[in-house]
Amino acid sequence: MSGTVQQARGRARQIDGRQLAALFANATVQRRLNEQIGFALGQGIHALRATIASYRNPSNLAHTLERIVDAIEASVAHWDAYTANHERRVAHLCVHIAARLGLSEHRTHGLRMAARIHDLGKMILPGEILCRPGLTPIQLDLVQQHARLGYEIIKNVPFPWPVAEIVRQHHERMDGSGYPRGLAETDILLEARILAVADVVEAIAIARPYRSGLGVEAALQEIRRGCGTLYDAAVVDACVILFRLESYEFPDLQKSGGWQPARPLLAPVSAMVSTPPVGPDQNAALAA
Ligand SMILES: [Fe+2]
Repeated sequence: MSGTVQQARGRARQIDGRQLAALFANATVQRRLNEQIGFALGQGIHALRATIASYRNPSNLAHTLERIVDAIEASVAHWDAYTANHERRVAHLCVHIAARLGLSEHRTHGLRMAARIHDLGKMILPGEILCRPGLTPIQLDLVQQHARLGYEIIKNVPFPWPVAEIVRQHHERMDGSGYPRGLAETDILLEARILAVADVVEAIAIARPYRSGLGVEAALQEIRRGCGTLYDAAVVDACVILFRLESYEFPDLQKSGGWQPARPLLAPVSAMVSTPPVGPDQNAALAA
């Protein structure tokens, strides 16, 4: 114990006032530096935790996934405004049928997402065969691939709803006569059964590229004709009640800013890529 005190005295004698002040100053700087490093580390960890939490936050994920659906919808619109507007009207009707059937808000949201992009698989198919009637069996088979192709495109997107499956099933029919897999009855998701009815009603009632609309009455006749065999009876009833008793109307997409054709679907390639020839005046301007 006494040896230690002597060592301390010896060291103290070797340190003059300036050295002592410098040592204190260094210790203060070191402490402040440690505090700053600690603070910065704390801030970094806090930010990292917040970032991880934001990725885990279901509402942020849902927001991101909705923007993905927006992007797909916009892609379809640039490819074919008719199909994009068809999908919008179908989605609108789906939401109303779902409300009539008492579908939960969560499932209705997923149904709406699927309905907004349900024909995205058509983008892969040649435009020439999509907008004309009287297809050959081979062409018809090709068109019917769109449900499966749409599924393939989005099957790996981690939607909290079965969006890809609804897209794949929207042409299945209750008696198993639909496509692509010939599913029947409750093997078909309820959301897909709703989408099937809304899709048919819109397609018959509203004008298509190759014919004018046949009107709501013709559309309702078709779903009543296939009630219980092709289409889910409860969904048909809900749809008929909407139009007949609740004065449902498809949204007017012209007024609400629907998609306008970016270009005619069958425009020749030259019309899409052609650039006006550079004239003598423009040559001069370019040279300037
Ligand atoms: Fe379809």
